[in-house]
Amino acid sequence: MNVIRFSDLIAAGKVAGQRVFIRADLNVPQDDAGNITEDTRIRASIPCIEQALKAGAAVMVTSHLGRPTEGEFKPADSLAPVAKRMGELLGREVKVVANWVDGVSVAAGELVLLENCRVNKGEKKNDEALAKKLAALCDIFVNDAFGTAHRAEGTTYGIAQFAKIACAGPLLAAEIDAITQALATPKRPLVAIVAGSKVSTKLTILKALSDKVDGLIVGGGIANTFMLAAGLKIGKSLAEPDLVAEARAVIDAMKARGAAVPIPVDVVVAKRFAADAEATVKAAADVADDDLILDIGPQTAAMLAEQLKAAGTIVWNGPVGVFEFDAFAHGTETIARAIAASSAFSIAGGGDTLAAIAKYGIEKDVGYISTGGGAFLEILEGKTLPAFEVLGKRAQEA
Ligand code: 3PG
Repeated sequence: MNVIRFSDLIAAGKVAGQRVFIRADLNVPQDDAGNITEDTRIRASIPCIEQALKAGAAVMVTSHLGRPTEGEFKPADSLAPVAKRMGELLGREVKVVANWVDGVSVAAGELVLLENCRVNKGEKKNDEALAKKLAALCDIFVNDAFGTAHRAEGTTYGIAQFAKIACAGPLLAAEIDAITQALATPKRPLVAIVAGSKVSTKLTILKALSDKVDGLIVGGGIANTFMLAAGLKIGKSLAEPDLVAEARAVIDAMKARGAAVPIPVDVVVAKRFAADAEATVKAAADVADDDLILDIGPQTAAMLAEQLKAAGTIVWNGPVGVFEFDAFAHGTETIARAIAASSAFSIAGGGDTLAAIAKYGIEKDVGYISTGGGAFLEILEGKTLPAFEVLGKRAQEA
């Protein structure tokens, strides 16, 4: 991707004394009391901020948090908890500034966190007047918000159109480099795991991957629809029977290329969806009418683990069973451990996937963990995300 990189501007000595506006994705989960429950995105935002400060810039950082109503700031929308955590990580106090669109006072070497940008009127629809005001706040716009790269909003797109210089921060650049490496020039075999409850939400991804990957492992409700397509019974398991033809088309497209979608040979079933439901391992051909498939079986898990261990590149999105319930976690744990043990370059993304990685403590054994949810999925679909598109245009003009 041909974009201007912030690191290049720093290396060229173009950042000292400049007003730098960093769009980060600090949209982190919080409990009812507002405490941050998972801080990966805040930690991932630190290198860019540190680089800007070290280079002698006057640094403004902003992010959205949740989906507030524009023009109606509520205490729950505030980035104050984020500022506190960021301050701990940076070892300095991080001041939060509200009502900042018309001007920000920040000196070289200082850092301010600009309050939730989605409270500003016009942010969501990328209003041009707002975008011009945002651009006027800075000399250099740095987009480091990979998680929001699929949104064309004021702080992710509009500001990049009008800022004097618009560039990619280290996180944004690292994400696109990792995903490009995994998909465009992969070490083969390239194996993708696409799991989740519905084929419909990931059909475009399955189709896009079906002409790239050597193995396409499906899991969860998606696998159930593929089992139907393979002529198997799935009892009362979650599936989308109206998408069986689409699933079959994916299987056929893979077959035509000499690649495969492995269909489970055994499954773990229960009579109800509950953590304490009795788990029974069955051959895939023996699923009863009142069974719910909640995990892949041990034989299938072992077979997939072998495939993953032999892979050159692995892309992972989605757990293959209800891993939140211990009785139905074996499949996902086996996959996670196989990825960890594999010498393949692995890249993982999506909320549930990150939760599984944390549960099995394999963070250090995954090649790259994306901070993107929707953004990660849209890249897998083969889309050019708006944030990259506009930065690419600005790089061409430069
Ligand atoms: C995310 O959590 O995936 C990103 O922060 C984007 O949030 P959004 O879906 O509210 O745009």
